[in-house]
Amino acid sequence: MSIATMTLFHSPASPFVRKVLVLLHETGQVDRVELKTINLTPVNPVAELNADNPAGKIPALRLADGSVLFDSRVIVEYLDQQHVGSPLIPREGAARWRRLTLAALADAIMDAAVLTRYETFLRPQEKRWDEWVEAQQGKVRRGLENLEREHIAELHAVFDVAAIGVACGLGYLDLRMPDFGWRERQPKLAAWYAEVSQRASMVATDPARG
Ligand code: BEZ
Repeated sequence: MSIATMTLFHSPASPFVRKVLVLLHETGQVDRVELKTINLTPVNPVAELNADNPAGKIPALRLADGSVLFDSRVIVEYLDQQHVGSPLIPREGAARWRRLTLAALADAIMDAAVLTRYETFLRPQEKRWDEWVEAQQGKVRRGLENLEREHIAELHAVFDVAAIGVACGLGYLDLRMPDFGWRERQPKLAAWYAEVSQRASMVATDPARG
């Protein structure tokens, strides 16, 4: 019998959805959520999702009482307060702001990579804007350089909201921008990612597994 009381609007390729799924696995809550797969692009709105989230974006989490949480930052904060293990978002102090800022950097990398994907895959060839794609990829490059230069020790310290975000962002680069070549430029980050990719939560949510 299912013990799911929540519904997660979901697409396996979305790195923002994966972030939520990895947190669910890491905190032992995966059985509490039923997945509702949405075939979503910015030009393919889904009425049921729009009714719950006017922004029409995933992830969105419908709770048992029918209320809906979005976006991924709000959902991970909510879910992190629903389990009894060590919090994956520090509750207070300098560590909270440090880890949330690192998580925001991971989100920015994902954002720029997803926008690159939309521009290079969805938009008709004749309407593509190369400078804009280059600018998005520049954000990804700068973000990865910053992680390599300043945050490797923090990533190794704990697999929390920040590390989960970075891992999901790197997974998305491998999925949608396989020729980006980040491993050659960021070898320390690559070594860290090789390690965390083995975690059960990352293996179970790997979009390349289908
Ligand atoms: C993708 O297919 O790359 C994708 C799907 C949903 C959200 C973001 C990205």
